[in-house]
Amino acid sequence: MAKILGIESSCDECAAAIIEDERKICSNVIHSQIETHKAYGGVVPEIASREHLEVIDRVVDRAFKEAQLSMEDIDAIAVTRGPGLVGSLLVGISYAKGLSLATGKPLIGVHHLAGHIASVKLAFEDIQAPYIALVLSGGHSHFYKIDDKNSTTCIGQTRDDALGEAFDKVARMLSLNYPGGPELEKLAKKGKPIYPFTKTLLEDDSLDFSFSGLKSNIMQYLQKNEWRAADVAASFQENVFDVVATKIERATKQTGIQDVIIVGGVSANMRLREVLTERGLHVKFPPLWLCTDNAAMIASAAFNSYHEQKFNDLSMDAIPSFGLNLC
Ligand code: KG4
Ligand code: ZN
Repeated sequence: MAKILGIESSCDECAAAIIEDERKICSNVIHSQIETHKAYGGVVPEIASREHLEVIDRVVDRAFKEAQLSMEDIDAIAVTRGPGLVGSLLVGISYAKGLSLATGKPLIGVHHLAGHIASVKLAFEDIQAPYIALVLSGGHSHFYKIDDKNSTTCIGQTRDDALGEAFDKVARMLSLNYPGGPELEKLAKKGKPIYPFTKTLLEDDSLDFSFSGLKSNIMQYLQKNEWRAADVAASFQENVFDVVATKIERATKQTGIQDVIIVGGVSANMRLREVLTERGLHVKFPPLWLCTDNAAMIASAAFNSYHEQKFNDLSMDAIPSFGLNLC
């Protein structure tokens, strides 16, 4: 039974996990830097990479202790290669390379989004290709058609802001703390969706997203009118989730594929799950603790490469703007 050590350091979470046979989580350790970046209202790349450097050794150590395993038990070392912040990525990659060099264990570079998509597999055994994966994170709002493990096609993407980014920006306009997504969700529970902000669905058949018009519309509205923060939060949330639901309806119709998963930070939003259920859409989500960045998903995603003996050598570099091809 193969075991893979996963390392994730693409943004502000420094994480390590050990996964056995694609699905069994032996350990899953996450060091979040939220408290560090809160004071700045967002992630400061320089500070993020420095904190990764300070904690990565302890994080990996804890992953071994919690799993009651040692390096000898590990068959491969997986690490996020991109997309992400270059300085942060390099900390994880350099650490993984060092471990690989010292132990002779093979190295596997993983696309961060392939990791998010694998997070659903950690919870559900029955997901079989073909299926549609929608990644809604701080940097991405991308639809993928997954035909099999070697065939993933991007069928839609944001033309400007990612949905998580839009959550963070609107949260900032409302003076909420970083990270804005969860704070905005909390506030929206106390409000009503009464403001008629612009809804952007693009062309009739488009699976792309665009959230920047809505963001500007909200900013202008706040400058010119009286408003209640909770109602703004609720109006924004209902607006974007209606768009997400409509795009999922289009995607299932266009592809003929009914199985849909949503992954990435925004998938932690409970109102999103309610809206989709109200629309009669059966969508699978990762458990809440696997929605945001973690290393369990990175280790799990590496099993494809491991089974095909597709390894990276020590010249592997970070790819901060890793393209859309996940394979
Ligand atoms: O996947 P993730 O942890 O990191 C990236 O790969 O980007 O996603 C982080 C994003 C942030 O923009 C954060 O505000 C958003 O996910 N997010 C949420 C929620 N929790 C995190 N957005 C809406 N509702 C939430 N509950
Ligand atoms: Zn992510």
